[in-house]
Amino acid sequence: MKPITAIDLGTSKVVALVGEVDSYGDLHVIGIGEAPSKGIDRGYVTRLDLAVNSVTSAIKEAQEMAGVKLATVVLGISGPTLKSQNERDTVSIASQPVEIDYSHIERLIDRAVMRSKEEGYEILSAIPRRFILDEQEGVIDPLGLLGSKISAEVHVVKVGSSLLKNTEKVVINAGMDIAGRFLSPIASAEAVLTPEEREEGALMIDIGAGLTDFVVFLEGSILVTGCIPMGGLNITKDIAHFMKINIEQAERIKVENGYALADVVNEAERIKIKPRGEEREVTVGRKQLAEVIQIRLEEIMEKLTDLLNSQGVDLNSLHAGIVITGGSAKLAGMRELLERYFDLPVRVGYPAGVIGLKEKVQDPAYATSVGLIKLAHKTLNLDRRGVAHKTQDKRSDNAINLSGLIAKVKAFFRDIM
Ligand SMILES: Nc1ncnc2c1ncn2[C@@H]1O[C@H](COP(=O)(O)OP(=O)(O)OP(=O)(O)O)[C@@H](O)[C@H]1O
Ligand SMILES: [Mg+2]
Repeated sequence: MKPITAIDLGTSKVVALVGEVDSYGDLHVIGIGEAPSKGIDRGYVTRLDLAVNSVTSAIKEAQEMAGVKLATVVLGISGPTLKSQNERDTVSIASQPVEIDYSHIERLIDRAVMRSKEEGYEILSAIPRRFILDEQEGVIDPLGLLGSKISAEVHVVKVGSSLLKNTEKVVINAGMDIAGRFLSPIASAEAVLTPEEREEGALMIDIGAGLTDFVVFLEGSILVTGCIPMGGLNITKDIAHFMKINIEQAERIKVENGYALADVVNEAERIKIKPRGEEREVTVGRKQLAEVIQIRLEEIMEKLTDLLNSQGVDLNSLHAGIVITGGSAKLAGMRELLERYFDLPVRVGYPAGVIGLKEKVQDPAYATSVGLIKLAHKTLNLDRRGVAHKTQDKRSDNAINLSGLIAKVKAFFRDIM
């Protein structure tokens, strides 16, 4: 079977991850390549040639490790222009109850997509949730049930067209064909959330270098998808500014001595730094460092809370609490800070559900890339079940391509989603 390759173009690193499915249907990671991200910032391409070089070297490394030639990839997409909405709609089917089939659901999805179209944006995913069959609410999977009208809320996610096109261009210029595009927050959630958490209600936050991606799951399906254009790099820059040191030093100090909660750090703890223009090293309090970190993190969480509030999310209904992932989830004290900030249980999410190279990929920084190969794998599975053929045309005009497909069928095959 052909390998599945995912490309995650992060603000700090580009990852190429290669997965292969064995005869039991299990997904093995057989190659990984990583390169520092150049010419990419918060999902935007800022310099094409540098971005292409970063992708090319990540792919080359992954290819050498996997021992196979890579030609087709799935892409993770996120950025400041990402936004989601839930479209509610009803389709009348017949005067007498008839069996609900895929075409009825598809009609609901297509109508939600039509209504969500917006100039300058592309719809990347449309996932039905909360079906109502005639008067019966809470229908999880309507396929095969009888009804004369069906209603659903469809979760639609879109991103700015140029952000999408430029990201694609980088990968195409690196010599790859694009088989599918998935939303990075949805991919990260796929890698770290358990089925129980999705059912009970959970907020997944992927805190990277430049972006904080998030997804809210409730009753097994996605309620809100979003992205805040801030992350660990903002913290590093704050430290550099506050301590008058360069970015590399600030990054090292953050990773080695940083703490997300200031009031638990002992006043007496000191860190050595060498500020610009100083002849020799000086010391600063670790507590001050933690204060700088905490202020920025609280700002990010405030923005996140505002966004969730504006989308009508009741955090108290998320009984499974919060799962944090992404490289910045490794910051000491992060879990405690969020637990205190949101007054909800918080755990760090490590990518799960793949075999091989565990010691490498079980790192929050790989949540998106692991989630991408998992999503691609599931789509192929659906393909084999004969559901997917309608969307073989990768560039169908309504933008429901591979990623849309998985969204479409998600509600019907929850067990494998
Ligand atoms: N041990 C650590 N302590 C604190 N921060 C860390 C640690 N390890 C990594 N980070 C931070 O994680 C961030 C990188 O995370 P990640 O690799 O998830 O980002 P990315 O995917 O490249 O970027 P993005 O998704 O934001 O575009 C950096 O800001 C880095 O400083
Ligand atoms: Mg990332």
